[in-house]
Amino acid sequence: MPGLCIAAIFATSITSCNNQKSESKMEMTKGITKASFGNADGKEVFLYTLTNAKGTEVKISNYGGVVTSWVSPDKSGVKSSIVLGFDSIAGYLAKPPYFGALIGRYGNRIAKGTFKIDTAVYTLATNNGANHLHGGLKGFDKVIWDASIENDSMPVLKLSYLSKDGEEGYPGNLNVAVQYTLTDDDELKIEYNATTDKATVINLTNHSYFNLTGDVTNTILDHQLEIDADNYTPVDSSLIPTGEIAPVKGGPFDFTKASKIGARIDSVKGGYDHNFVLNKKESTLQKVATLTDDKSGRKLEVFTMEPGVQFYTGNFLDGTIKTNDGRAISQHTGLCLETQHFPDSPNQPKFPSTLLGPGQQYHTVTVYKLSVSSK
Ligand code: GLA
Repeated sequence: MPGLCIAAIFATSITSCNNQKSESKMEMTKGITKASFGNADGKEVFLYTLTNAKGTEVKISNYGGVVTSWVSPDKSGVKSSIVLGFDSIAGYLAKPPYFGALIGRYGNRIAKGTFKIDTAVYTLATNNGANHLHGGLKGFDKVIWDASIENDSMPVLKLSYLSKDGEEGYPGNLNVAVQYTLTDDDELKIEYNATTDKATVINLTNHSYFNLTGDVTNTILDHQLEIDADNYTPVDSSLIPTGEIAPVKGGPFDFTKASKIGARIDSVKGGYDHNFVLNKKESTLQKVATLTDDKSGRKLEVFTMEPGVQFYTGNFLDGTIKTNDGRAISQHTGLCLETQHFPDSPNQPKFPSTLLGPGQQYHTVTVYKLSVSSK
């Protein structure tokens, strides 16, 4: 299937386009194909290809729930992937910084890896300097999810995972289900559900790095971004929020009108890696951000039920990770729009709560909608 090779524009060099063996065993179900993706933790993992009526293809593995590629045409009809990813499991076992992955139990940072629920103190791994990041040493991005293919009108991949009481230091058995749907309008819908048997904290997201040019040799600095956020949460030098909700007006964080990402990035130390406080008030699904790239004509709109979005400009990408064909993945060659509750909420009483108790249902939806203008 040529899709794997097309997707290799962002793929690692390890087993470039040699999935023929597994493809011969491929199962076709309702717009989804399933192929072997190799082994992780001594178990076979799979790569699912979701194809919609337009021929758009999104590939997702049950290893870390990673979106490995999203292939779509640019304004000239040339197809390439708009997310950074690899076409072999080896690329992910090398622990790239959360490429395309599902993040949990807690997306982003918890200060000093500790928090309290009532009087109980919980201690988590400090895997980011003195802080806890993205669920710990083996977060949801590095576990194998159970997968099932659902629905018959649209390709739906349902991933589920039981995070046991005490895993990575978090309390409660947490049953998580994440459903990826590719609609015929080129929307990738991600629906997260979870329940717990003991009070815990939860903040799930997806860590896809987008580059709408479809070519990792371009940075994302010429992309235009609009975020419907009048405020953001300033951080200290270790990227922990100070607790302040600060206005963006007039400064480098002001994306209330579409602006070029590179225009003011130099005045933000280290680049953008900040939580934007979305203007939306209710937890309904609303459009919160629009990313465009004139070169390719592509546009990505982000809809979410979450109160925040972490806008991260791939500041820590430094060229050490290579694409499948050996090209360096350099700084600012991908950007993340991680929909979320605010970082360090368990220690910030003024932020929206991330507590989940027994009997409660965690439910949140984010949609990334891709389109291309023919101009
Ligand atoms: C998130 C964080 C960043 C960084 C990346 C992964 O976006 O906010 O600081 O850790 O993940 O490199």
